Amino acid sequence: MRIFVAGGAGYIGSCTTEYLLDQGHQVTVFDALLNGHRAAVDPRADFIQGNLEDLDGLQRAMDQARPEGVIHFAAFIEVGESMKDPLKYFNNNVANAIHLCQAATDHNVHKLVFSSTAAVYGMTEHFPIREEEPKSPINPYGESKLMFERILAWQHQLKGLPYTALRYFNAAGATRLHGEDHHPETHLIPLIIQAARGERKAISIFGEDYDTPDGTCIRDYIHVLDLAQAHLLALQSDFVGALNLGTGGGSSVRQVIDTVKKVAGHDFPVEVAPRRPGDPARLIADSTAARKILGWNPQYQDLETIVRSAWDWKQAHPLGYNDR
Ligand code: UFG
Repeated sequence: MRIFVAGGAGYIGSCTTEYLLDQGHQVTVFDALLNGHRAAVDPRADFIQGNLEDLDGLQRAMDQARPEGVIHFAAFIEVGESMKDPLKYFNNNVANAIHLCQAATDHNVHKLVFSSTAAVYGMTEHFPIREEEPKSPINPYGESKLMFERILAWQHQLKGLPYTALRYFNAAGATRLHGEDHHPETHLIPLIIQAARGERKAISIFGEDYDTPDGTCIRDYIHVLDLAQAHLLALQSDFVGALNLGTGGGSSVRQVIDTVKKVAGHDFPVEVAPRRPGDPARLIADSTAARKILGWNPQYQDLETIVRSAWDWKQAHPLGYNDR
């Protein structure tokens, strides 16, 4: 399949591109390199530097790539930043994404796969979370993703563009070649690894008074290669709609820290800090639908396997992609 990957120089985009190429597909990466890294673009892929806000440039890129499938990873992802600058998020994650929807429709692609998020649910009452749960995002990031899901649903209904929205829970881990290199880094596992390597003086636990067994927040960490597999299956499937992607299991912040200690083979300082605003106590996915409908079969669900892959990537790339 010829696949156009918008945002293919970012974390999940670069790992998915590598996976698609390994499976024998042809990939064009389209990325503005605002947050992505040129060195994260797999050399086997064609690369076009461009921004979704430039519709003409995007249409030309698609004329050149002639894709059968499109994957959209090119969004802003910082929940905290979205609370400070909501229009930045609506502008890129909705207005610019509409250009991708337009270009995909004009080029008659067979499927558009969209990176959505567990943040579309907000605070939920039932666990694990099923796709039918009410959607009430509590930040502009989650709202922007939900808005684009709804735009895709209308574009499908009225213009026939087939799409699948994949609602990731906590993407984590690395391949041998590609990993997580955000500036600034806000995600738990890379921050703990920095503490373990002495690159920061300690890891802070954001609250240990939650209503969970050890008092720290529980998240559903899912390996980035398992996400990659789901994207390919979604491209190949006729299913239209939204699916959760998680393991259905949860790990607390303390359990993740203990796992990094085990993998690193040494202790490091841990501090307890106040709660971070907007953090739900637990987020766990019910991914039964993705397994049934797509035949999704995640391979790397164990937390230690996930952490070890992130650790190995960081050991091999201590400066990340070294371009910032
Ligand atoms: N945490 C700490 N200390 C840190 C960083 C994080 O204790 O230094 C905690 C957080 O409070 C949270 C957990 O670790 O309980 C995971 O935090 P992350 O920032 O790694 O991930 P989130 O669960 O906040 O966010 C992730 C994605 C978002 C997405 C969201 C869906 O990064 O893009 O899941 O709910 F929106």
